[in-house]
Amino acid sequence: MSTSDTPQQAAASRLESRAHELEVVDVIRETPDSVSIVFEVPDRILSRFRYHPGQFLTLKIPGADGSGTAVARCYSMSSSPHLDDDLIVTVKRVNGGVASGWLCDNVTVGERITVLSPSGSFYPRSYANDLLLVGAGSGITPLMSIAKSTLIGGLSSVHLIYANRDADSAIFSAEIDEMVAEFPDRFAVTHWFESERGLPDAAAMADLMRDEADRELFICGPPPFMAVVEETAEQIGIPAALTHTERYISLSGDPFSDIEVSVSSGDDDASVAVTLAGTSIDLAWPRSATLLDVLLAAGHDAPFSCREGECSSCACRVVSGEVHMRKNDTLVDSDLAMGLTLACQAVPVSDEVTVTFDT
Ligand code: FES
Repeated sequence: MSTSDTPQQAAASRLESRAHELEVVDVIRETPDSVSIVFEVPDRILSRFRYHPGQFLTLKIPGADGSGTAVARCYSMSSSPHLDDDLIVTVKRVNGGVASGWLCDNVTVGERITVLSPSGSFYPRSYANDLLLVGAGSGITPLMSIAKSTLIGGLSSVHLIYANRDADSAIFSAEIDEMVAEFPDRFAVTHWFESERGLPDAAAMADLMRDEADRELFICGPPPFMAVVEETAEQIGIPAALTHTERYISLSGDPFSDIEVSVSSGDDDASVAVTLAGTSIDLAWPRSATLLDVLLAAGHDAPFSCREGECSSCACRVVSGEVHMRKNDTLVDSDLAMGLTLACQAVPVSDEVTVTFDT
């Protein structure tokens, strides 16, 4: 952004740096109901697409509902930054879901889709801990990225508990079998098929997870399944600080529109020192403004999608000082224990705050 830019130009320029058209270079049919979409990232924007295993992409899906109006949806990456040159998201058809239906039925090689830079807080901060990954259905997608990355990038062990309707609906079965063969001492998988054993209830999960209390836990799947796993984790004594959950949300706003933001300063402003993409920024922080709005109003390219406290795209870490989140529908205890906050919901409590987006 140049100092002579109008607010509209600044907003458009920020959008240009967050949103990029990527070309689909492969479409892999994983199961009758799911596809993996492989995106090539041009060298000139590689830095915009560095990611942690477990994070997601926000896709702009053109005219998915037949009205010609684009919709935005978040899809986790199944690729690993340690293994795959391309970005891969895996999408499972949701009953009545216009976006997932469009992606499963229409995407072909050569299609260009607009996507936002990777975001999300559902990823291991290091590969030091042994992991327990518990997923159901398409919840395997971020867990697959975490499993591959941990096995290749670390030395710890991974136990995957993977629930599906039946064997045919299990995404990545062949790849998972190959990983077990390649890492027999570090990777174990327990499959659960509803066709054989019914839905996994608390007693069943307790049996599966009983000896796993010393592992760091990552959970992803339908909400009722996740609730059972979270309850079991608490019962068997996995600390909340070591329990991570990923919930899929439907974005209510349009993260692809240009957003103009202005904030009013006053005598009582706090101050904030921000590290963003390796750059240090010092700003006045009006008490009633969110950190995200303060950064956007000053022309900085802070990450966001929903601006509603629902997606964690704007997650950053408070290094010193105190903030208050007006709303938080996405960060869990383990995130809060690490000092994470949502820039789109954070207002200052202390007079001086230091924050980093470079988590
Ligand atoms: S932008 Fe979605 S939680 Fe802040």
